[in-house]
Amino acid sequence: MNQSNPHKLIVGNWKMNGSLAGNAALIQDLLIGWPKSQASGRVQAAVCVPSVYLTPCSGLLHHSAVDLGAQDVSAHEAGAYTGEVSAAMLRDVGVRYVIVGHSERRQYHAETDQLVAQKAQKALAVGITPVVCVGETLLERQAGQTADVVKRQLAAVIQLNGHCVSEIVVAYEPVWAIGTGQTATAEQAQEVHDLLRAQLKAAVSMHERICILYGGSMNAGNAKSLLSTPGIDGGLIGGASLKATDFLSILADAEAVSKV
Ligand code: 13P
Repeated sequence: MNQSNPHKLIVGNWKMNGSLAGNAALIQDLLIGWPKSQASGRVQAAVCVPSVYLTPCSGLLHHSAVDLGAQDVSAHEAGAYTGEVSAAMLRDVGVRYVIVGHSERRQYHAETDQLVAQKAQKALAVGITPVVCVGETLLERQAGQTADVVKRQLAAVIQLNGHCVSEIVVAYEPVWAIGTGQTATAEQAQEVHDLLRAQLKAAVSMHERICILYGGSMNAGNAKSLLSTPGIDGGLIGGASLKATDFLSILADAEAVSKV
């Protein structure tokens, strides 16, 4: 259960940041620092951008070594859902990954485990990989409820999606570590990753290893230690994905770690 994954996935979550000009500059720097010609294939990179910027970013990232991701998707297929963006629309503009169940959406938009599971289902139905976020709050951790919370969140996705769960990516993002500069220790992350992996293994019989990312104040200074931790298959990076040098440094660490 503890073996390291030779492949790493590094996903930037830009959250509600950026501008047309700023995104173009950031992507240009990323593509210079992470050219397709040099990509080993051991590390996959993606950036999840605000929905209004998906189309221009799709053009900029076309044929590059960085995939396009979205930050949310509707739980509905189509129709009278003002303001929502469907999975088919995301696919239409070249999206490869979509974050679902980020704690900011669970917290500020009252997204339930069931809604998150439906969003994952809609993404899977059109061939987009949902990055399913789970994580406990500080109060829940202090109350000893971490395992119960993350397992409950993941169970809803497993229950609705059955064997298709083998196609998801999971991101463990302890809420208390997001944007706080307070990263989970490698041991804390590993412990939760191990129990999520056990839950996934029990749920679906599969040979393929499901990718489990860590997110929460991962940065250029701590990425190497986190990414070399057995059971951590990559990172979901917020703040540090907004600076090309920091994101490229994390990609380089993932590359170095995946070589050993
Ligand atoms: P930070 O890396 O800014 O802590 O954000 C993590 C996160 O929420 C990624 O989805």
